Amino acid sequence: MSRILVTGGAGFIGSAVCRHIVTHTPHACINADKLTYAASLASLAAIEAHPRYRFHRLDICDRPALDALFEAADIDAVIHLAAESHVDRSIDRPAAFIETNIIGTYRLLEAASAWRDRLEGARRQAFRFVHVSTDEVFGSLGPAGAFNEASPYDPSSPYSASKAASDHLARAWQRTYGLPVVLTNCSNNYGPCQFPEKLIPLTIINALEGQPLPVYGKGENVRDWLYVEDHARALLRVLEAGAPGSTYVIGGRGERRNIEVVTAISALLDEKRPRPGGGSHADLITFVADRPGHDLRYAIDPGRIETELDWSPRETFESGLALTVDWYLANEAWWRPLKERVYDGRRLGLGRVAT
Ligand code: NAD
Ligand code: DAU
Repeated sequence: MSRILVTGGAGFIGSAVCRHIVTHTPHACINADKLTYAASLASLAAIEAHPRYRFHRLDICDRPALDALFEAADIDAVIHLAAESHVDRSIDRPAAFIETNIIGTYRLLEAASAWRDRLEGARRQAFRFVHVSTDEVFGSLGPAGAFNEASPYDPSSPYSASKAASDHLARAWQRTYGLPVVLTNCSNNYGPCQFPEKLIPLTIINALEGQPLPVYGKGENVRDWLYVEDHARALLRVLEAGAPGSTYVIGGRGERRNIEVVTAISALLDEKRPRPGGGSHADLITFVADRPGHDLRYAIDPGRIETELDWSPRETFESGLALTVDWYLANEAWWRPLKERVYDGRRLGLGRVAT
């Protein structure tokens, strides 16, 4: 059994990773999260009392708190997910993205290096730091081709620029200080417990409330969708078998235009929860002003992780989307408080907001 520190474990992907570790591996999971607006401890209800799970409220920018946690929890490995993650918020207010994604990652790399330097023998050899990043660092694709591990960096938004900076720091700490970093760049995730600012949960919840379904621009932008539990499994494979210094791009071969995604959600809801007054949920689709700097298309070629680590997604986009819609229908108690107290669904990301 290893003791895995998961940063950002109260967020969308982090909570799926914590649930996966506790439910499907023999390892202990130490979740360190600042609990920003995007966090929800309710996402961890199924494991919160498990003897192999512990939660610590912690800001990754706080180096003394990180040092104390590495020592107290006697950490063997890190899966680093803590971040400001929403592109539209980064357009409005970039500061928190620079603080957490760049400075916070720097402090965490330093704390992990210092802690690993105190380990000896096999434990020092086996120590791993999985840095979780995004395909958005590569910028926009044209109509053809896909990102792979050799794709050049070309970020467009303050969010993706801050993630690109954190990737460069993680690689530098591996090459310069020997920290055994394995880096991943994943495409768009969707599934249970995603904060309702992102396209898929926002669309489901707005549709249930009879509100407009905002589609940016013409809805022609393409994202490559991966069910979150498939991503959690991939990260554990990378932790167990990824070579230090290597990179894996992760995706589910699930490219869809945004308008196709919103139309598919509308069709599922027409079947599972028909509109009270009749008509299709698709009637609520509303084309709105485009996102500034909106990348046209992302797509991942996951050949390397499929071949080297024997990973492939279990859900197709259709099966995963049906599971996701079912989850939001069954878990209004999870999303209703977020909608009422944290984020009411208003448009974000139209330009810099004075602070
Ligand atoms: P999220 O916004 O749902 O969760 C982020 C979590 O990090 C929250 O629980 C928040 O409280 C925590 N956090 C933020 N700042 C912190 C700080 N300073 N110290 C400690 N904790 C802090 O994000 P997500 O969608 O789950 O993404 C997780 C990671 O995966 C991010 O690094 C993101 O860049 C990356 N990623 C996300 C996607 C996606 O589609 N969501 C795809 C590829 C990569
Ligand atoms: O590609 C990986 C990235 O995917 C992650 O690194 C990010 O953390 C994650 O937020 C996600 O970024 P996107 O910007 O692609 O996700 P979002 O859900 O915000 O938007 C998906 C697409 O849908 C994008 O083209 C913008 C569009 N969109 C979004 C919203 C919120 C709309 O058309 N309408 C909307 O209301």
